[in-house]
Amino acid sequence: MLNPSETVALPDKARALRQAGVDVIDLSEGEPYFDTPEKIKLAAKEALDEGFVHYVSSAGLKELRQAVAEKLRTENKIDVQESEVIVTVGAKQALFTAFLTVLNPGDEVLIPEPGYVSYQAMVIVAGGKQVSVNLLETRDFRLDEEEIKEKITEKTKAVILNSPNNPVGAVFPKEDLKMIADIAKDCNLLVITDEIYEKIVYDGVQHYSIASFPEMKDRTITVNGFSKAYSMTGWRLGYAAAKKEIIDNMLKVQQHSVTHPTSFVEKAGIVALKECEEEVKWMVKAYKECRDYFVNELNKTDKLSCWMPKGAFYAFPKIVETKFSSEEFAEYLLKEAHVLAVPGTAFGDLGRGYARMVYSRPMDELEEAIPRIRSVLEKL
Ligand SMILES: Cc1ncc(COP(=O)(O)O)c(C=O)c1O
Repeated sequence: MLNPSETVALPDKARALRQAGVDVIDLSEGEPYFDTPEKIKLAAKEALDEGFVHYVSSAGLKELRQAVAEKLRTENKIDVQESEVIVTVGAKQALFTAFLTVLNPGDEVLIPEPGYVSYQAMVIVAGGKQVSVNLLETRDFRLDEEEIKEKITEKTKAVILNSPNNPVGAVFPKEDLKMIADIAKDCNLLVITDEIYEKIVYDGVQHYSIASFPEMKDRTITVNGFSKAYSMTGWRLGYAAAKKEIIDNMLKVQQHSVTHPTSFVEKAGIVALKECEEEVKWMVKAYKECRDYFVNELNKTDKLSCWMPKGAFYAFPKIVETKFSSEEFAEYLLKEAHVLAVPGTAFGDLGRGYARMVYSRPMDELEEAIPRIRSVLEKL
């Protein structure tokens, strides 16, 4: 049985309240608040005006695949050719297509937890089985080598990595990725790495792509997308890179499902990759200011304690001092403060005792949210 995605169900409640005239501050939806950069919008408009509205190549436009391969070679140090790239309807569809392609019934997949809500559901739909590996705050949300080795069985097919991570904002250091790479090689595992927040990192922390590590390219599926870095959540554009054999098989799944991502959106993706580095930089700078303000202010209440995220745009405060469960906390916050957060349990059992709040919001909204949160917590 699949559970409805809680990060989708909760905004529905907020919308209903808003429709009833309540001023709800929505810190639940994991998306940037900026408009998509103008150059990107213009490229889509031009493509539409030129009548670029018909079926295109299923793997993605040649020029976009080339741009992705070039980006992966120069920025991520992964030796990728155009034929090893598939363009998808968001990173989510890249992940789903990857699981459908590589998993056989009963295959086990190691999934770090707390983690992105959809990994588990996608693995199950693809016939696989989720095996959680713990990201503990006491270990700075890093992976534990002993635990991973203990959880590997003859059925383990793959390990998922998500760094920077949703919902915690942890960024795995190079040595942890090397540890995973060594295990993957020793135990013949695939690594499916979701690098959608790669550009959103703070304090000089560096993101590394595991596919760039020696002998890892052929056992890694690198997934990424345009939603977060370029503020393009609604456009639905992403991609995956892997060895040609895997990409060719993913392509068959894509041909028989979505056919290809929207033609004129792909044209816009080329401009995003090639021309928008400055826009990304200033958006990340704004997120850092939001993070510094929001997390520091949350930590001023004695009912919450929040680990300082190193990337992405989520705060994941510990809420145990409130004596509420994660679900009760989110309910209380919505009812009393009209602030919408996501219960930590939406991200797996290890999210128990936490809540997720998105800080990629306009500063004045965060400045309004903080006193509301504080005042309802002070009543406890
Ligand atoms: C870790 C992670 N991966 C993938 C996605 C989905 O990205 P896209 O919009 O490209 O499908 C999200 C969205 O929240 C995410 O947090």
